[in-house]
Amino acid sequence: MKKQNENLNKLINLLSDGKFHDGSTMGAALGITRSAIWKIVKRLQDYGVNITSDLTKGYRLEQPMTLYDKHKIYNALPISEKKSYELDVFESLNSTNDYLKTLRFKTNKICLAELQTQGKGRFSRTWYSPFGDNIYLSISMSFNQDISELSGLSLVISLAVLNTIEQFYASKNLSIKWPNDVLLNGKKIAGILIEGDSEVHGCCKLIIGIGLNVNMTDKKANQHANHWTSIKLATKKNIDKNQITASLLNNLFKYIKKFQDTGFGYFQSEWKKYDYLYGQEITITNGKKRTHGICRGVNNQGYLQVEKSDGTNVQYLSGDTSLNHHS
Ligand code: BTN
Repeated sequence: MKKQNENLNKLINLLSDGKFHDGSTMGAALGITRSAIWKIVKRLQDYGVNITSDLTKGYRLEQPMTLYDKHKIYNALPISEKKSYELDVFESLNSTNDYLKTLRFKTNKICLAELQTQGKGRFSRTWYSPFGDNIYLSISMSFNQDISELSGLSLVISLAVLNTIEQFYASKNLSIKWPNDVLLNGKKIAGILIEGDSEVHGCCKLIIGIGLNVNMTDKKANQHANHWTSIKLATKKNIDKNQITASLLNNLFKYIKKFQDTGFGYFQSEWKKYDYLYGQEITITNGKKRTHGICRGVNNQGYLQVEKSDGTNVQYLSGDTSLNHHS
């Protein structure tokens, strides 16, 4: 676990013009020695950041990179959340979800990391989390609803994430694969992992974890997920991570508030617009059981509705879905 380091951030800012900078000049700019600069560069290289070093010219960052600016992000929060939430920003963490768990689900915390060494996906999968490129975000919150009433929440969160991506890249090819995989051109661009604490009398504490692929173009990611993309891969442009993180947080708070006031029903029509599985032949895996059928959308609580070949309808509260491909 490593908290964000001011000098490392400043160094990335200096290098983000893509030009060579020598160690002494950068050291003077940051008020540290040449060897301290070298140590930070080494740390970044160990994280997998592509920095070229040349004996005479110095160091060069091969891809532009923006790191989180805590103040910019905090200042962009809605006024009510600014009062009630604490924001922790890390250079490196095992997992932002796990960090909030170690705080025993202490609520009203927002946690961001530049790198996760053990990023987790649903069903114990790995969430590939290289340094600096993407958003790894977790929020802990308490809900005055019974956990059973919260089934639609993860769908609503995915709508908030999709809406954020749309603000930066208005593509018609954004969709959501139930329950909460956000896809661009059928490839995964964001994932959501919600973990809950034992509820006490109709009240529960949740950790909402979101991974959003922003500037990742890394070939290594292919080993970890077969079908993934990022905003940069689609737009060919570098996205300012502070702007998109701020807008993600604003959308999340807005959507969650509405969900708490109205339930999932309000979002049903918005969901339909982006439903990747609607009308398709799908397989749903729930525990050890696999069912095939036609997806008939979601009900007003966010349950997936599947029509089986014998004409009966089954509803699912949770599970993993995939399209059945015919060749
Ligand atoms: C999935 O699609 O399987 C869910 C992926 C969730 C990834 C995020 S990244 C921030 C938070 N911390 C984690 O370890 N996982 C979630």
